[in-house]
Amino acid sequence: MKGLILAGGTASRLNPLTLVTNKHLLPVYDRPMIYYPIDTLRGMGIREVMVILGGRSIGDIVELLADGADFGLDLTYRYQRGALGIAHAIGLAREFVGDDAFCVVLGDNVLQGLALQEVAEAFEAGPYDAGTMLYQVPDPERFGVAEFDAAGALVGFEEKPARPKSNRIPIGVYFLRPDAFDVISTLTPSGRGEFEITDVLNHYIPLGRLFWHEYAGTWTDAGTVESLLHASTLAANHPAAPE
Ligand code: G1P
Repeated sequence: MKGLILAGGTASRLNPLTLVTNKHLLPVYDRPMIYYPIDTLRGMGIREVMVILGGRSIGDIVELLADGADFGLDLTYRYQRGALGIAHAIGLAREFVGDDAFCVVLGDNVLQGLALQEVAEAFEAGPYDAGTMLYQVPDPERFGVAEFDAAGALVGFEEKPARPKSNRIPIGVYFLRPDAFDVISTLTPSGRGEFEITDVLNHYIPLGRLFWHEYAGTWTDAGTVESLLHASTLAANHPAAPE
């Protein structure tokens, strides 16, 4: 499996912290934010990773991560022009991905306490074209939100709904196959002007090809001032394992 880390976007929700630097370089406890998605992919046993870069100070990200050898990774980079959303960023990785299954992690997602190798293997070995992990949050309206029918089956995701239909959200970890690039090429931008990952996931639900897993570790994004502080607290409570 290959890996993608999405490190674009304008991060305006973090102003003034991001006026002159890239969100993914900000400290989360004792390490730059982007080290956490790297850990997530490494925990799945993934070694070949592309980082999609956008926004400010991207040269500093390349200087920090270099060729990836310090992390045991083989890293390449691609530039995302404009903040056109997660699905658009994924679309830039078509040639890198080739025929392989791949895992996408958002650059501001901090997962602690659980390696995901078995989850990645379950996706790859199963009859699925897309997958994600669900997590219960107190403020689902900030995210994509899962909707279930009376029998408990997942029927769809809604991006940032005013009235969330559950408190379970897809976190920023997505499992996909090259088929996703064809789906992405059919999407139109949402009301916020972005190509949404939830539209990609929704495509696969009626086809019975969506894999989902309830994430049992601790999770947060770090894209707002409050969640950035929370991410540092989580990371402080789960110190990185010694190499
Ligand atoms: C994005 C996705 C959303 C997901 C979230 C997880 O939101 O669009 O579905 O729940 O990441 O971090 P955004 O970071 O664009 O607010």
